[in-house]
Formats: sequence, structure tokens, C-alpha cells
Amino acid sequence: MSENWKEIKDIAVKWVEEAGKMLKESLHNSLDIKTKSNPNDLVTEMDYKVERFLTENIEKRFPQHKMMGEEEVGQNIGSTDGILWIIDPIDGTTNFVHQKYNFAISVAVVKDGVGKIGIIYNVMQDEWFTAIEGEGAYINEIRLPMATCVDLPEAIIGLNGRWLAREKRSDDKSLHEMVRKSRSVRSYGTAAIELAFAACGRLDSYISFRLSPWDYAAGLVLLKEVGMVVTDFQNKQPSLLEQSTILAARPSLHEELLSYVYNHNGFNH
Ligand code: IPD
Ligand code: CA
Ligand code: CA
Repeated sequence: MSENWKEIKDIAVKWVEEAGKMLKESLHNSLDIKTKSNPNDLVTEMDYKVERFLTENIEKRFPQHKMMGEEEVGQNIGSTDGILWIIDPIDGTTNFVHQKYNFAISVAVVKDGVGKIGIIYNVMQDEWFTAIEGEGAYINEIRLPMATCVDLPEAIIGLNGRWLAREKRSDDKSLHEMVRKSRSVRSYGTAAIELAFAACGRLDSYISFRLSPWDYAAGLVLLKEVGMVVTDFQNKQPSLLEQSTILAARPSLHEELLSYVYNHNGFNH
């Protein structure tokens, strides 16, 4: 069966838009904040509300589709066969709680392991990053150009300072050396937005030592459409079912940056 991806994307955008309104409205009230894996891993009732809102709509409209969300849905999904929605209801929950700014809703639709639709909604800036496989990536209604070449001395790299703080090595392939050689680094606290920024050229690369599929599934679709290279630190396709390291970069930069991250073990770093 061949799906009408444009129609599915438009429907998904409508749901995400409504979910975005729910998030904006919730900022006027006090939030119920809990922690998950550690004291800095926050979750609010809005994370659950948005995930439920999206998955209930998907289930009603597309009962044969599978779903995997960060909070509740599809915890035991073991294969990417068929159509799978991968959802991060709030990417950047720490920002949502502390800053009320710089957070996103990230939704990807994948068929048999291939990313078909990517939607990243930068809620407070009301900025839409969308892509359909083979049809280009867009910021709002404007098509994004293909990624051009930038060398490391002119490159701005998205990188969380925590990874630098944990680095023990100090040779010429250390992360510190990579950062010294770059023009600058930025950290926004939301992987989805950082990947979207890489897709639209605001960042030349984005690097993370540990992310989950819902953090990057939509970003992968966008980045592929503009010719950015995205792999894990071993130069392989990031998994859509398990955690992964992520190196997204302009084609001219990817090989060089890989030489800095290749020997880092993302999970035990
Ligand atoms: C987090 C953000 C953050 C990244 C973390 C993610 P969450 O997602 O994307 O930028 O560094 O690894 O877990 O928890 O806010 O959805
Ligand atoms: Ca996330
Ligand atoms: Ca989240």
C-alpha cells in the first residue's frame, strides 16, 4: 500500500499545533514536576498530556500504525517493520520548566525503518521544521537549501558542555582540541531543535554522546533532505529503536569531526 505522506504530514502538523497551544497555555499555571532516572531528568504532567493527546489521535485515525513515545507508549517496540510514529512530546523539558523557552515537539513517521516524515515544532518561536522524504526540508513555508561546505575553523558546533567536562583525554584528538579548532560552540538544551538548527545552517554540526530515538528521529529526516551527514560515533546509521551517539555535520566536516569522536564511548564516557 502506498501512503499519501503529504496528507499524513498535514494531519500530524495540525495535531502538533494543537499540542503546542496546550503547552503555551500550561505555562500560565503551576506545573507538577517530577524526576525520572536522576535528579536532573525532569518530567511534567504536560509531557504525559501531550504524548497522550498525540497517540490517541494517531490511534483513532491510523489504527494499524505503531507508536513509540518517550513517556508511555510503545516501550516494548522491537522492530521498525510497518509504519512507526516516534514521538518526543516535549524535547527540552528542563528548558520548559526553567526557562519557558527553547523546547520542541518532535514527531517522526518511519516506514520499514526509513524516515518518511519529520516534524520539529519550536513552540515558543512558533517555528516549524518539516520534511517529507525526497521532497525537501522546510522552515515554516520556506524550502531549506542544500548544506554547503564549511571548514572546522569557521564551524559552529552544537555541543553540551557536560560532555567536555567529563573528558579525561588531552591528546590532539580530544574534544577540547576539536572545540579549540572550531569557531565556537553552542548548547540549547534541546537535541531536536539543535538538529533542526543544523538542518537550516544555524549550526554546522551537532554532537551528542547519548540520545534516544525520539530525540533525533524527526531530525534525521530533515537533515537527510538537506544533504547533512548523520551517523553514530562509529560512522553507522543511528538506531531507531535504541539509544545512540549522534554526529550530525555538513558533508565537508563529518569525516574530520568523526576522527575526534570515534574513540569515545558514548555511554560510558
Ligand atoms: C533531552 C534534550 C537534551 C539532551 C538530552 C535529552 P528531553 O530531551 O534533548 O538537549 O541533551 O539528552 O534527553 O528529556 O528534554 O526530552
Ligand atoms: Ca528529548
Ligand atoms: Ca522529552
